[in-house]
Amino acid sequence: MSFDALLGHLEFGEDPTEPPPFAEHVRGSGARSDLGRPTWLFRGPLPFPHLLPALRAEAQAWRGKASRVNTHSMAQGGPATTAAQTSPALLDFLRAQVPPGVAFEPTTSYYHWYASAEDRVEPHRDQADFFLGCILLLHHEHQGAPTSRFLLHPTGGEAVPVPLDAGDVVVFFSGAVTHSRTAPGPGELVNTLTWGFELAPPR
Ligand SMILES: [Fe+2]
Repeated sequence: MSFDALLGHLEFGEDPTEPPPFAEHVRGSGARSDLGRPTWLFRGPLPFPHLLPALRAEAQAWRGKASRVNTHSMAQGGPATTAAQTSPALLDFLRAQVPPGVAFEPTTSYYHWYASAEDRVEPHRDQADFFLGCILLLHHEHQGAPTSRFLLHPTGGEAVPVPLDAGDVVVFFSGAVTHSRTAPGPGELVNTLTWGFELAPPR
């Protein structure tokens, strides 16, 4: 996906009271019907920590390729992210997290950097190619308590922080659950990697 396409991919400011897009597709697959609930499917350490050094090294090398897309800097993933995204280990791990009957295929991946008070992601839901998201916190540098947080947003309720340490992933239906990231404080740097998956016909 090009960065121009990506601009359309990110639907900022979407009315969170609207029904989650694509929810009917998932219901039709026989999955549970609570996809708009502000919850994650998995949160915790990446089960394959041996991948982290290569992903962190690629992120560092790719930072020079990053462009500012709306509210923060991004770069499309490279060989290390693609290798991980298409690996049987990651796909099997994700299959174990989603409800029975939900099938998906890998699409794209992006590195993201949040380094200044203007950097953030407004509450939004992703489009079909990122209906299932796996976000890896590669690096979080801060002085004292961290300021930048990843949040899920229940309809009509308070935002729910998703605690993540470096090396943790959160897996959730990013096309159905409104999510955001808040700005870093002075001297704070956040580097994440997002892997996207689109729904596939039920198996
Ligand atoms: Fe998103």
